[in-house]
Amino acid sequence: SINLKNRNFLKLLDYTPAEIQYLIDLAIQLKADKKAGCEKKTLVGKNIALIFEKTSTRTRCAFEVGAFDQGAQVTYLGPSGSQIGHKESMKDTARVLGRMYDGIEYRGYGQQIVEELGLYAGVPVWNGLTNEFHPTQILADLMTMLEHAPGKRLSELRFAYLGDARNNMGNSLMVGAAKMGMDIRLVAPRSFWPEAALVAQCQAIARETGARIMLTEEVEEGVQGVDFLYTDVWVSMGEPKEAWSERVSLMKPYQVNSAVVKATGNPQVKFMHCLPAFHNEHTKVGGEIEMAYGLKGLEVTEEVFESPNSIVFDEAENRMHTIKAVMVATLGD
Ligand code: CP
Ligand code: NVA
Repeated sequence: SINLKNRNFLKLLDYTPAEIQYLIDLAIQLKADKKAGCEKKTLVGKNIALIFEKTSTRTRCAFEVGAFDQGAQVTYLGPSGSQIGHKESMKDTARVLGRMYDGIEYRGYGQQIVEELGLYAGVPVWNGLTNEFHPTQILADLMTMLEHAPGKRLSELRFAYLGDARNNMGNSLMVGAAKMGMDIRLVAPRSFWPEAALVAQCQAIARETGARIMLTEEVEEGVQGVDFLYTDVWVSMGEPKEAWSERVSLMKPYQVNSAVVKATGNPQVKFMHCLPAFHNEHTKVGGEIEMAYGLKGLEVTEEVFESPNSIVFDEAENRMHTIKAVMVATLGD
């Protein structure tokens, strides 16, 4: 049987398919319990530190609500206001916080930072997004896919990820799909495919799980017959503003719009996005870029984002249930 007590959750590569499925199943159970009003608290008396070197809405709120529901307390350490990132090393921070807290979440820059935290904290450390990986997001995405494909297993599902396939989302969706035996198509300009070494690692996993990994620049080929279309921002947190000018023209053919939905050949295809999304002019950054390049919507159009095919808010809700599952599995009584 599976026991994840005291484990770090730093990247899906560290977890077996059975362990990933266990976390998703636990999240489904916790969601049902909460809705039925019979959730059991397994984190009473625990203290949890939430380190955010980058901003967040979903991940922070998911950790806070998940912890509170389970009876734990949290301390939020934002992008400024602590010694982290400028005055104290992560190795020292890890050993300090590990003396006070029972679990630590980290969102920030390089994966090696959260790995170092995990090595020295002595308590479970959870990755809330790094430049390379966003593993809690993938748990929510896979859970949401299962909810929208009743009676099916993950290994029976096909999806396409369009846009920046070299970022944390492209990388971790590829790992998640490889682990769970899924059919994934990464549809992106060649220069935005994941690093060759990670692709090779995922292909090796796929040979064992039966997953299929396609990398293509051709939208029509990539999206044919999929159950889900997934996209993310073209420029991620921490990347320079100048990146937009190079990327808008390169990524434009990969925008998820009604033509792409049609090209799937599947009228029931569902649209997914980890959020936040640039789909209209109502955000500061998105609005400026759309104006500058004469676009309507960036990675996705308003039409698709607001269509009945869109399941982005189910996905956002599931961030909470899956993050709660990670905390309960690694720290719960
Ligand atoms: N999807 C996600 O991680 O959202 P936040 O940046 O708001 O946490
Ligand atoms: N790729 C995005 C994901 C945000 C949840 C970023 O890193 O900004």
